[in-house]
Amino acid sequence: MRVLVTGGAGFIGANFVHYTLANRPEARITVLDALTYAANEASLAPVIDRIRLVPGDVADPEAVDGLVADSDVVVHFAAESHNDNSLRDPSPFVRTNVVGTFTILEAVRRHGVRMHHISTDEVYGDLELDDPAKFTPQTPYNPSSPYSSTKAGSDLLVRAWVRSFGVHATISNCSNNYGPYQHIEKFIPRQITNVLSGIRPKLYGAGENVRDWIHVDDHNAAVWTIVDKGRPGETYLIGADGERNNKDVLELILELMGKPTDWYDRVTDRAGHDLRYAIDSTKLRTELGWQPRYTDLRAGLRQTIDWYAGNRAWWEPAKQAVEARYAEVGQ
Ligand code: NAD
Ligand code: DAU
Repeated sequence: MRVLVTGGAGFIGANFVHYTLANRPEARITVLDALTYAANEASLAPVIDRIRLVPGDVADPEAVDGLVADSDVVVHFAAESHNDNSLRDPSPFVRTNVVGTFTILEAVRRHGVRMHHISTDEVYGDLELDDPAKFTPQTPYNPSSPYSSTKAGSDLLVRAWVRSFGVHATISNCSNNYGPYQHIEKFIPRQITNVLSGIRPKLYGAGENVRDWIHVDDHNAAVWTIVDKGRPGETYLIGADGERNNKDVLELILELMGKPTDWYDRVTDRAGHDLRYAIDSTKLRTELGWQPRYTDLRAGLRQTIDWYAGNRAWWEPAKQAVEARYAEVGQ
């Protein structure tokens, strides 16, 4: 099976490449990645002789067409992914997330290639903290940020191309991932690398916002389950019942790293900050038989802390610039 992985030098995409090489020996992988600030070629270095890495932009039809034509399936991870960045400058989000997905869709339409579109639970907006409800495939789209609105737009393009042109595509909307190779602008690796650098962790607002954490390997196992068994045109929600508020996650990280659990700063809250995400993944579990394996957040965080502690060369060169950018906006 020839698999085109867009965004394969980013966090989830690189983990997908590693997961696939370990679990799907029949797969031949090509990565298409623009190698933006969010990519790290070192994430693919251990397997670079077993894949093809093509630098290129998913919004460039010429870069995309031949690669799609040579594939059996496209797994489309490439995106601008960070909410805080989308508040500063939304334009690359529109280009990559909307125009990029349009470009991939046109290519899979031309060549009759199967596509799986990777999306986020943020397309549904947020839930109240005390609401027992979770997101389901029937929840109306109601995105809050420039990032989530462009992901919502990309999902709607996929749905329209399925209905109007018969494109063989599936969509998954997953909750917050954690694990190795995640960019240190994101919450969990930012705090771990702060502690490793002697910097006090930074909590937005009161830290009551809830995220539904899932280990990246559980996400990627679910993606393969959908590629193998998903019905074209269907949307599957991926989540591992990992709801925690940010303050609890930060205190757990501090405890695991041997620091006092109040050793952090409260900083300026994110504009429009979504309160709570929670996924009901019943459809994926009952129809396709997927189950998460990493349901112990403490154990998953311990493994993730060990990875960042053991791979300083992977993140240390970016640390100062990331923190300087946050400092400019009081975060
Ligand atoms: P990331 O920012 O770590 O990686 C994104 C990758 O896409 C980078 O390698 C970057 O170079 C590449 N890229 C960006 N613009 C590109 C372009 N124009 N052409 C080609 N490549 C380009 O993101 P991530 O956290 O790995 O997220 C991957 C996907 O999963 C995204 O679609 C995101 O919306 C989705 N998602 C992420 C999470 C999460 O918790 N991180 C949860 C649910 C869904
Ligand atoms: O829900 C899925 C989404 O999860 C993905 O679609 C996004 O690509 C991914 O970035 C993530 O979005 P969030 O905005 O939830 O993730 P982030 O890591 O930026 O922040 C997680 C929570 O932690 C959020 O409530 C904001 C808060 N936070 C974040 C940072 C960077 C802090 O309190 N302090 C911080 O320093």
